[in-house]
Amino acid sequence: MKLFITGANGYIGGSVAHRLLADGHQIRGLVRRSDVAEQLAARGITPVLGTLDDSDVLAREARKADAVINAASSDHRAGISALLAALQDSGKALIHTSGSSVIGDDVRGDALSPHIFDEDTPFIVEDKKQARHALDNAILAASAHGVRSIVLCNTMIYGAGRGLHRDSVQIPPLVKQAQKTGVVHVVGQGINRWSNVHIDDVADLYALALKDAPAGAFYFVENGEASYAEIGQAIATRLGLGPVRSWTVEEASAVWGEGHARYSFGSNSRVRAKRARAELGWNPQHASVTRWIETEMPLD
Ligand SMILES: NC(=O)c1ccc[n+]([C@@H]2O[C@H](COP(=O)([O-])OP(=O)(O)OC[C@H]3O[C@@H](n4cnc5c(N)ncnc54)[C@H](OP(=O)(O)O)[C@@H]3O)[C@@H](O)[C@H]2O)c1
Repeated sequence: MKLFITGANGYIGGSVAHRLLADGHQIRGLVRRSDVAEQLAARGITPVLGTLDDSDVLAREARKADAVINAASSDHRAGISALLAALQDSGKALIHTSGSSVIGDDVRGDALSPHIFDEDTPFIVEDKKQARHALDNAILAASAHGVRSIVLCNTMIYGAGRGLHRDSVQIPPLVKQAQKTGVVHVVGQGINRWSNVHIDDVADLYALALKDAPAGAFYFVENGEASYAEIGQAIATRLGLGPVRSWTVEEASAVWGEGHARYSFGSNSRVRAKRARAELGWNPQHASVTRWIETEMPLD
């Protein structure tokens, strides 16, 4: 197939592109900088210079492609609207990359949530995440207008990326901060839990969804769960550091920004990827983020 991928040089998009190239697809990838465009071309991806604000570029590429994957942003409404408009009545797939902070709470590391969501559970969505939830729903609704629209709602992704960005957004900042200061910090007591999934299993699911997911399908993407205290302890063990220490959300915000401190590191986001396993036969191979941290995580 001819595919157009946004975020093709990023962590998720680069890894998905790597997988889909290996499957024999032709890929055109949106890229913002000409030096990065050259690096993408060297990997067999045809670069398309532009951004998610260039609706004409997005529309042209979406019309030329057999299917589109947005892995540049879970939140860029204008760019995604341009892609959906161009794909209307085409029957072609648009796979959108969402994230499970959409059902994240605001416990600041000090509570374990009893809420575990799957695709059949009504969501609880904090005010700050309403826009992402509305965008996911707008994408799914495009299935009524001739788009095979699919939302993959990823949890905390770990593992070394296969594209130009090696690092994900949650564990690497904790590791870098620990390497810099000699102390691993988590928000509050770190008893909050996040579901997680390895990037290679994520890439497998994008390939399966491209092939078989029906129009209007929403999937959580998860293969395990850990608390931040457990993740922090695994980082400390790997780096040979002492006990994990607590930060208030204000202290964490000063280092990682408030959005990250509250909705990535301080929240619960617990889901089960029931539908991808049952409907697409997804069979993830990696099961333990803490074992990956202790044995495989690249350190530099
Ligand atoms: N990693 C995770 O665990 C995870 C889990 C769930 C959801 N998500 C969400 O998935 C999305 C991608 O995440 P990622 O981890 O792959 O991040 P990433 O490594 O930063 O990749 C994002 C890619 O998209 C490109 N991009 C961003 N904004 C763009 C724009 N306005 N126009 C054109 N290109 C743009 C970036 O280009 P540049 O290189 O030019 O910046 C980069 O190549 C994010 O919205 C993230 O919040 C991530």
